[in-house]
Amino acid sequence: MNLELKAVQSASAPLRIEIFENLKKGADSAEIISAKELGFEGNGIFFLQAKKLLLVGIDEWSADCVREAGANITRYAKNLPFKSLSLKAPADNELTYALLLGIASGAYESAIYKSEQKKSALRVVEILGDCKELPKLCKKAQILTQSLNIARDLINTMPQVATPKYIANVCEERAKELGITCEILGHKELEKERMGAYLAVNRASAHKPYLVHLRYKSKNARAKVVLVGKGLTYDSGGLSLKPADYMVTMKADKSGACAVLGIINAIANLKLDIEVHGILGLAENMIGGDAYKPDDVLFSREGKSIEVRNTDAEGRLLLCDCLSYAQDLKPDFLVDFATLTGACVVGLGEYTSGIMGYNEELKTHFETSARKSGELMARLPFNRHLKKLIESKIADICNISSSRYGGAISAGMFLGEFIREEYKQKWLHIDIAGPAFVEREWDINPYGASGAGIRACVEFLESLESKKTLENHAPKQDSKNSKNKNSQKKKA
Ligand code: BES
Ligand code: ZN
Ligand code: ZN
Repeated sequence: MNLELKAVQSASAPLRIEIFENLKKGADSAEIISAKELGFEGNGIFFLQAKKLLLVGIDEWSADCVREAGANITRYAKNLPFKSLSLKAPADNELTYALLLGIASGAYESAIYKSEQKKSALRVVEILGDCKELPKLCKKAQILTQSLNIARDLINTMPQVATPKYIANVCEERAKELGITCEILGHKELEKERMGAYLAVNRASAHKPYLVHLRYKSKNARAKVVLVGKGLTYDSGGLSLKPADYMVTMKADKSGACAVLGIINAIANLKLDIEVHGILGLAENMIGGDAYKPDDVLFSREGKSIEVRNTDAEGRLLLCDCLSYAQDLKPDFLVDFATLTGACVVGLGEYTSGIMGYNEELKTHFETSARKSGELMARLPFNRHLKKLIESKIADICNISSSRYGGAISAGMFLGEFIREEYKQKWLHIDIAGPAFVEREWDINPYGASGAGIRACVEFLESLESKKTLENHAPKQDSKNSKNKNSQKKKA
């Protein structure tokens, strides 16, 4: 369902929405008073049929509450027989944008395989106000919603259909439409690139792996950002097979790659003054006679050998080769997105993504962007003790930790071992395993894929447009501090 968001000076829609602060006593309109007489307790949504009015009670006028209320408005209104609805813009731009984003992206429907599709009459949302910025806010909310939905659709597509090739084709089509470049590396090219770790993960799959390289560049690009996404179209665990209960939803193990496509789509439509590359590492982790095994040793593109002790820790294997490729592009910032570890979900809960990396300022910057965007993210700190746990007796590094604890961080530190010294301060790893796939709808997130990572990263990239921000992080590369002394100390 695609909603048109329209900034208007006077409303013409048949359905009116009134949002009010639930706990505020004495400020109720006549309609709220009559709804309360009919049994409405003030919280949530109440439909005054006779007046064609939807009353929406919120706890406070915060972006979080307003965004969620927006999503609830469309969830409710899409079952009513009206083609359009109208509501007043809240007091400031931040609240207005949050409301618009909630309304537009809360309308997403993931029941794509039901033989009877629910049809909704709702098409247009009129937002009343005379603020000059209103049309711009409508446009941004619409672009972000389209980008979230591109990722959600792809992630929700069943794994038998959404193979690496299928996703590569979708990227190609999107790139054509956006007027950006799209290069696709097939099996042969990946061999030529010596991506031994990536290729091993896909070996037992009936489908071929593809690496997609998207590139958007504006004329006056201020910074070059390379985004990398884990794109496991299915993660069965491989020979270290997942238990049945844990395998369900692993079609969503491609969420990092799909987020990267969504982010590029948003940036190209918003026409930001930056250069953004998107690297999607697409593969499938399956079982079979040709499967890679625990006890195998893999040779990565960066030249490090990796002892495999668990084939279910496959994301880091694919990513270390993609990150190697990404560093050859000489980025100012390098960010990867991955549904990397169950441990991140255990540690932070299913609503929050983990931010990892060596640059404290950069992590804080990304965390701030995430908060502003409405996504929940928290920093997880690296430490030298956890790094010791991924040492191997027979190879340069092992793909799992020798401890059962701290799995999100040790996975992040594994990736960190493939980041060259000059890029250590420019790199961030975002583990989106928690919020990428939603089993109980929350905030603006419908059941199924959420599009985690997209809103936060777009906000981050928008903030890079200001030169000051770039200067904050960039000089670090040459300073003595660029080395993380704790984790980089060579053995004597
Ligand atoms: N794709 C999973 C991580 C995951 C778990 C994503 C739950 C979303 C929800 C990843 O490939 C994986 O299986 N990781 C293992 C690592 C372990 C073997 C060290 C895990 O987290 O159990
Ligand atoms: Zn796995
Ligand atoms: Zn995985």
